[in-house]
Amino acid sequence: MTLLLTIDTWRRDIISDFINNQTYQEWQEKSNNAQLINNGNIPKWNQALELINILPKGDIKLDSPYIKITSPAISKNLLESALRKLKPWRKGPFMFNDVILESEWQGDMKWQRLINHILPLKGRRVLDVGAGNGYFSLRMAMEGAEFVLGIEPFLLFNYQFRALKSLIELPLNISLLSLRLEEMTKAPLFDSVFSMGVLYHQRDHMSHLSDLGQMMAPKAELILETLVVEGERGYMLVPDGRYARMRNVYCLPSIETLKSWLIEANFHNIRVVNVCKTTIQEQRRSSWIGENTASLEDFLDPLDSSLTIEGYPAPTRAIIICQN
Ligand SMILES: C[S@@+](CC[C@H](N)C(=O)[O-])C[C@H]1O[C@@H](n2cnc3c(N)ncnc32)[C@H](O)[C@@H]1O
Repeated sequence: MTLLLTIDTWRRDIISDFINNQTYQEWQEKSNNAQLINNGNIPKWNQALELINILPKGDIKLDSPYIKITSPAISKNLLESALRKLKPWRKGPFMFNDVILESEWQGDMKWQRLINHILPLKGRRVLDVGAGNGYFSLRMAMEGAEFVLGIEPFLLFNYQFRALKSLIELPLNISLLSLRLEEMTKAPLFDSVFSMGVLYHQRDHMSHLSDLGQMMAPKAELILETLVVEGERGYMLVPDGRYARMRNVYCLPSIETLKSWLIEANFHNIRVVNVCKTTIQEQRRSSWIGENTASLEDFLDPLDSSLTIEGYPAPTRAIIICQN
């Protein structure tokens, strides 16, 4: 009892002012250092942010499937040309007054597949691992989360997030740090932890699962979304080279294999809540990606859409929810 009380008090103390706690400060320092890298695009991205930062801020709300930011008196041309300097926009979609940003991914489709299965996010502390530009982190914050921390190592997506956040009048309780999960000092601070589209990019999937577990408060929920293949327990696909033109895809397990990994990593109450093939409505060509608008349609075998262009099974994604 005393121990429980102590842990609870400790946890409440740390989280009450989340971003002032020492662990958060350490993460932030690492994130700041990570952003000091050389990247030839930084002047262009900074130019976009400078333009966006001086624009009037607006309200944020959902106009499904868009996250809609409405603000008075924004020049459509100016905003659109600034946002286009931050291409490729993989995650979204967004609407800024009458500028419609059709990202490559129609993120609302994934959100609809999971939202009715997870514990309500209201009042919860949420970690979104591999958050991209923060589209899903924003959706989490809009559900009333107490605090959402997104982590995303890819620099451009951090710039996109800054652009989005600076257009919002009352910033939601959300931040995005430029970090990889494995670089974070581990602390069991989060009630809901999301890892979506990240596991198959890890060289060491077990260590990713263990790292996720270490960020979870007691009785927290993990929402894991990842690519899977058909097969028995023990089966996994290790692509030789690219998978659907993606680099760094290390391992695609069968659902039973994935469940066995989760059990090995000490998760329980494992529920598979959705399995579906990715469609060209969800991952689509868009001028917001860049000059090369290639998307899923171009990554599948032109004669047999059940296969990728490399001859592997076409992308199928599963959502698994479990507890630590
Ligand atoms: C396929 S995207 C998924 C984005 C978003 N979560 C979604 O579901 O659409 C994977 C993202 O995870 C990031 N990522 C990859 N490995 C990571 C790691 N170890 N820690 C944090 N983020 C990582 C990548 O930079 C990339 O932006």
